[in-house]
Parts: sequence; C-alpha cells; structure tokens
Amino acid sequence: MFILILGAPGSGKGTQGRILAERLGLPKITTGDLLRKAMKDGTPLGLEVKKHYDEGKLVPDNIVLGMIKDELARPEAKHGAILDGFPRTAAQAELVDKTLAQRGQRLNHILLLDVTEEELVRRMRARSRVEGRTDDSPEVIATRLQVYQRDTAPLIAHYARRGIVHRVPGTGTVEQIAEEIKRIIGR
Ligand code: AP5
Ligand code: MG
Repeated sequence: MFILILGAPGSGKGTQGRILAERLGLPKITTGDLLRKAMKDGTPLGLEVKKHYDEGKLVPDNIVLGMIKDELARPEAKHGAILDGFPRTAAQAELVDKTLAQRGQRLNHILLLDVTEEELVRRMRARSRVEGRTDDSPEVIATRLQVYQRDTAPLIAHYARRGIVHRVPGTGTVEQIAEEIKRIIGR
C-alpha cells in the first residue's frame, strides 16, 4: 500500500507519517530528511541543495527526481511506503505515478492534512525555538507557504480526479488526527 501524506509546511506530515508507517509496518520516505542529510554531509550535492533549501524554495527536480527513483527502488519499498513531502511538483507526480504503474502498483490513498495558515506558522515558529531548522525563520516560512500554494497544491486536483484524496482536519491533538487517519484508510 502506497500512501502519500500531502500538506503545507508544518501541517504534520512527518508526525503522522511516522505513526502510520509504524502501525502499517511500512517504510517512510521523506525527501526533506534525505536533503537535510545531504546538506549535513556537506557533499557537492548537499551544497547545491542548501542554496534552495535555506531560501524555502523547492530543490530542483533534476536533483530530486533521481533521489525519488532510488528510494522507490529499494527492496523495503517493494510492497508499499508512506511518502512524506513528495511528490511536490507535477514532474515528481508523473515520476511516482509512472514508476508505480510499471510495477503494477499505484498510490492508494492521499491524505491531505488541512491546517490553517495561522496554526502552521505557530507550529513552525515553536519548532524553530527548539530544533533550529534553518528554514524555520519567519521570512523563509513565508516563502515555503507561497511555494506550497503555487507548486504543490495543484497536485490535489490532479489526484482528486482519481477519487483518492481524503481531506484530514489537521488541527487537534496528534492522537486525534492519527485516529481519524486510521478510520479513513480502514486499518
Ligand atoms: P520538508 O522537510 O518536507 O518540510 P515541509 O514540507 O516544509 O514540512 P515540515 O517538515 O516543516 O512539516 P511537516 O508537515 O512534516 O510537519 P511536522 O510533523 O514536522 O521540506 C523542507 C524543504 O526541503 C523544502 O522547503 C524544500 O526546499 C526541500 N524539499 C523537500 N522535499 C522536496 C521535494 N520533494 N522536492 C523539492 N524540494 C524538496 O510538524 C510540524 C511541527 O508541528 C512539529 O514541531 C510538530 O511536533 C508539531 N505538530 C505536529 N502535529 C501537531 C499537532 N496536531 N498539534 C500541534 N503541533 C503539532
Ligand atoms: Mg516534515
């Protein structure tokens, strides 16, 4: 089973993805974590990533598409995975759809975490005081929210045509939202 968790920055993709992956025994693939690791390792790729990441812009598809391909090809992801933070662009969606179709698979559910902008900003500001993620500064948060609306939100319509998008109210406790997700996917 392949499940995509979609939502704006700070909407809870990582938090809910972790719970879901554990419950279903599936790997969670998070492009943001892979990119943060590349930056931390200081590889040439990481340095290129940092230029975009630190401004809250999307890392270009020519870097991310290869990463997605490699992750989906891992043996752990043979029968399913939780996708956190990708696809994020039309080209990424096309790659995921095509790769799965070639294996006789498809995205089964899209969980769209619906959180007000006010709450998103509140969460990311709170996190910046604890974790110090370089993209949680007020200016970069604003850019990330705009980029989400422009480049990623259109994917909702793309997948809604297939009838697989479930809108999940993303405000409430972590446990309440996890329960709602369990109800939606039926396990
Ligand atoms: P990415 O790492 O994916 O970050 P994001 O989408 O901006 O989202 P976050 O990770 O900030 O939030 P989240 O939705 O995971 O929520 P979380 O559970 O952490 O991407 C970062 C950057 O990497 C991008 O800007 C881009 O540059 C690049 N990138 C990544 N993927 C890419 C791709 N595919 N293509 C191109 N570029 C890519 O929760 C947020 C906070 O709220 C946490 O502190 C959490 O504890 C708290 N929280 C969670 N749930 C609740 C709740 N119910 N109530 C209160 N607080 C809560
Ligand atoms: Mg995340």
